[in-house]
Amino acid sequence: MTIAGLGAYLPERVVTNDDLAATGLDTSDEWIRSRTGIVQRHYAAPEQATSDLALEAGKAALADAGLGTDDVAAVIVATTTPDHMVPGTAPLVAAALGTEVGAFDVQAACSGFVYALRVGTALALAEDAPVLVIGAETLSRIVDPRDRGVSILFGDGAGAVVVVPDETGRIGPFSLGADGRDPSMLWTATGGTRAPVSHQVVDDRSHFLTMRGGDVYRNAVSRMAAASRDVLEQAGLTIDDVDLFIGHQANVRILDAVAQRVGIEPARCHVTVGQHGNTSAASVPLALADARDGGRLRPGDTVLLTAFGAGLTWGACLLTWNPTTGGGNA
Ligand code: UT7
Repeated sequence: MTIAGLGAYLPERVVTNDDLAATGLDTSDEWIRSRTGIVQRHYAAPEQATSDLALEAGKAALADAGLGTDDVAAVIVATTTPDHMVPGTAPLVAAALGTEVGAFDVQAACSGFVYALRVGTALALAEDAPVLVIGAETLSRIVDPRDRGVSILFGDGAGAVVVVPDETGRIGPFSLGADGRDPSMLWTATGGTRAPVSHQVVDDRSHFLTMRGGDVYRNAVSRMAAASRDVLEQAGLTIDDVDLFIGHQANVRILDAVAQRVGIEPARCHVTVGQHGNTSAASVPLALADARDGGRLRPGDTVLLTAFGAGLTWGACLLTWNPTTGGGNA
């Protein structure tokens, strides 16, 4: 299995920490930078929704792979901010691409891309055909602009890969996990079937994302480190065999702690949270594209991806960056 194409899309509007402070939010550039490493994030334009971002990244990935929509056997969108509760976002993206192949969403919050890559890899193998896997989010629409503990963290964007079944590369092994015993650690409490939208919900502002930051932080570090170790062990590799480490871009302190636990130095880690903020399911493919564009991926490199998010969910996978297929791996 090989990643034959990689694409990214970031909305034009850049929102700095100072911009957020200027809205009257009781925060500062200094606090946000020192606690999270975030300098800026992108926000979608009012007329853009997640499928629009996903479409741009998907088109870029297909072009990068030198493939057309007709070559693709399925479209998978990992998102926790769908355009609608019903239907899924992937069918909208597939329609915009001009295809009627199977299209469905994967909801595993910030771990969504790693989960979707697992599903997409299996599907590409089963169908013996390329699969488009997209991570896309418009988190700016679900954070409470008055909640400084949450709103400063998140941004919008999309990243996509085309997974191709061939013998030249490797995607995997994977390690996926979930613990749903305490979903309130990071959730939107209402707006779903347990507590549908009502005037009360809106008055309470409980339809916005809420988080117990410290608990999430601790779990993010331990789960991403454990999942990373698990895939290395499955592959019979050590951290010394990894050329580039890309963790879920939530907070630079979390990434540093994970890197320290797995024993990898900063020079082999790619960090984009400063520029993108936390883009949930889009963060890993956006960081991968940023690494590629920055010349940090070389043919044959072993890349370790790991992610963690609401659920709780977590995951990791190894892949070989292989330049022999597609236009974008060189
Ligand atoms: O993508 C899914 C995963 N999400 C994450 O991984 C996020 C995980 N959590 C985090 O990254 C961190 O917990 C945060 C960045 C959210 C918070 O950082 P922290 O170092 O854990 O700060 P804290 O929550 O302990 O808050 C410290 C202080 C508090 O004030 P008091 O109680 O000490 O007076 C907060 O009210 O900082 C205050 N605070 C802020 N101050 C200025 C919280 N948010 C802000 C803010 N600006 N934006």
